[in-house]
Amino acid sequence: MSTIPRRSLLPMLGHTRGSRSASTCHYKCGDACLKDEASTSTSPPFAAVAEAALSRRSLLAGLGAAALVGGTTSSVFSSMPAAAASSGAAAAGVPTAAGGPLAFDAIAPVARTVDAFTVPQGWTWQSIISWGDPVTPGAPAFDLDHQSAEAQEQQFGYNNDYLAILPQSDWRTALLVANHEYTNENLMYPGFTDEASLTVEQLRTSMAAHGMSVVSLRRSSRTGPWRPRSNALNRRITALSTPFTLVGPAAGSDLLKTSADPEGRTVIGTLNNCAGGTTPWGTVLSGEENFDQYFRGDPLGDPRNRDTYGLVGESGAAGDGRFWWKVDERFDVAAEPNEINRFGWVVEVDPHTKGSRPVKHTALGRFKHEGATTALAADGRVAVYMGDDTADQHLYKFVSKHRWPGGRTKAEQSRDIGWRSRQRASQLLDEGDLFVARFSAEGDPAVDHDGTGEWIPLTRGGESAVPGMSLEEVLVFTRAAAAAVGATPMDRPEDVERNPVNGRVYLACTNNSRKAAPNPANPRPQNRYGHVVEIAESGDDAASATFTWTLVLVCGDPADPTTHFAGYPKELVSPISCPDNLAFDDAGGLWVSTDGAPGSIGYNDALHHVPVDGPERGHVRQFLSVPVGGESTGPWVDTESGSVFINVQHPGETDDARVDAPVSLFPYGTTSRTPRPSVVQVYRA
Ligand code: FEO
Ligand code: CA
Ligand code: CA
Repeated sequence: MSTIPRRSLLPMLGHTRGSRSASTCHYKCGDACLKDEASTSTSPPFAAVAEAALSRRSLLAGLGAAALVGGTTSSVFSSMPAAAASSGAAAAGVPTAAGGPLAFDAIAPVARTVDAFTVPQGWTWQSIISWGDPVTPGAPAFDLDHQSAEAQEQQFGYNNDYLAILPQSDWRTALLVANHEYTNENLMYPGFTDEASLTVEQLRTSMAAHGMSVVSLRRSSRTGPWRPRSNALNRRITALSTPFTLVGPAAGSDLLKTSADPEGRTVIGTLNNCAGGTTPWGTVLSGEENFDQYFRGDPLGDPRNRDTYGLVGESGAAGDGRFWWKVDERFDVAAEPNEINRFGWVVEVDPHTKGSRPVKHTALGRFKHEGATTALAADGRVAVYMGDDTADQHLYKFVSKHRWPGGRTKAEQSRDIGWRSRQRASQLLDEGDLFVARFSAEGDPAVDHDGTGEWIPLTRGGESAVPGMSLEEVLVFTRAAAAAVGATPMDRPEDVERNPVNGRVYLACTNNSRKAAPNPANPRPQNRYGHVVEIAESGDDAASATFTWTLVLVCGDPADPTTHFAGYPKELVSPISCPDNLAFDDAGGLWVSTDGAPGSIGYNDALHHVPVDGPERGHVRQFLSVPVGGESTGPWVDTESGSVFINVQHPGETDDARVDAPVSLFPYGTTSRTPRPSVVQVYRA
């Protein structure tokens, strides 16, 4: 049946940069590296800024030499002597300094070919829910051979990325909220040959497997396993049929009007939801990331989408848009030029209110949103931190005009305030100022590898702060606005989280294999392993206009002399590569999930724990490992019950895998025929 050569299914075969399989490049990011979306900002790339900061302490001579010869293990960051840095296996068995319900002995990293979910000794795991499991009351059971869009709209979606476990008033129940970033048709449909041959019903099923899920949970002991239960709040939000309301300053703009929606205020569906966050009022935010891949491009179309958002490749090819245009013409940019402007937003869902309509927040800007993390400013205004996950794109912050009048503690914010109050609170994200970060290296010279930074306004007081761009243009084409004001290009800025104990903000930069030139201070010529930036807002105020920053982790195998773990002895540190999602436990310990360890350091992706304060600062220890081809996403840590939750995304996603030839059968049910993305709970055995 197939006439499409394999190479056109996976265009990145033989061309992958950095750490991804060609399969991940294609299904997850729409072959983004074949496109040119680099920022045109005139600000020096973050790596160059970091280099300047590092050079203040004369660190670079040693770093450059070590990087060139590649054979020594001397650390340029660490204050420790040139100890023999381990392969990381030595970290296994080292007990955590902290006790309590989350204490564990680090596991050894797991080779990237191993099809196993690995947890520390004394811990166990269970899959709470998997792709295809029933969600809504009366939903059909998963049936690999008889899938339909109608069934999928009632079942758990594919490739869950963000995860929240929201407490309800009774400790026995909670709401699980997950999003579903993308689909792997090669692992979903028996007999799959190529995307061009997918039937319209299969395409509709894939559209229904995108979106979000709300699933009620029940447990019978405070530290035991959660189970899904049938409940009226259970719901699916899909790319196929769920209406969203556009809110904020750009709603109703001409840029958002289409033939089906002449008002520019209602969008069907959400696309490529990656990370997210919870709000103080109990709702969930989720970022629309690589939305461009669902649209058939138009080489003659609006250059603001064509060039800045990667809609057309470097070769000028328009792409196939996943063939969704066969289902709905709005996914063909030539036919409906503005439909694409209605994706690339932060969406908000109220999971506690049955039938509530989700919204897309235009005040937060349009780009390839990784996620959205809220923090309360000193005066009660709401800050939202957001990364734009593409090489050399930017870090953003929104600050609301009005104040959140509700509780500030975690316990206060977990109380049900009622749907009307949640709806009112959501409007806090409609009015406010949007900023983008510029990092500088003129910090306190007495401190290592750090610097200062400022938040540059893109919108101010309800008006554009960018010369030559209207407010609507700034919000719809935010990447161009950020470049125009000299924002700092970053190494794929992904998840951002604020530490509940020390108040600092942490940013995961996954990697950047697209740099033109070696940059010894970043410290690899190409940043294959990523790093984590620690940001201290001035006055510990999330609304501040300035900040200081430090590289807390420069990732990789600790045997690599260019790594840095806040100065912690490298022989005690687990290998860590391509940090993606971040979470904190109640003690302020940072949990880091990874996306790209297999292709960079040869191990399956993982979840790590690292203290960021005190004598253990920088002591990275591996907590779990996901199966071959999988990615660990959406960590959610419940300190009180001693449970760690993780999404196992795209298990078994390797270049040659098919339903009929799987490399993983995760989560290993007795009748498994293909791997199924799942939400996993890890708890004490
Ligand atoms: Fe969907 Fe930025 O990872
Ligand atoms: Ca991510
Ligand atoms: Ca990722």
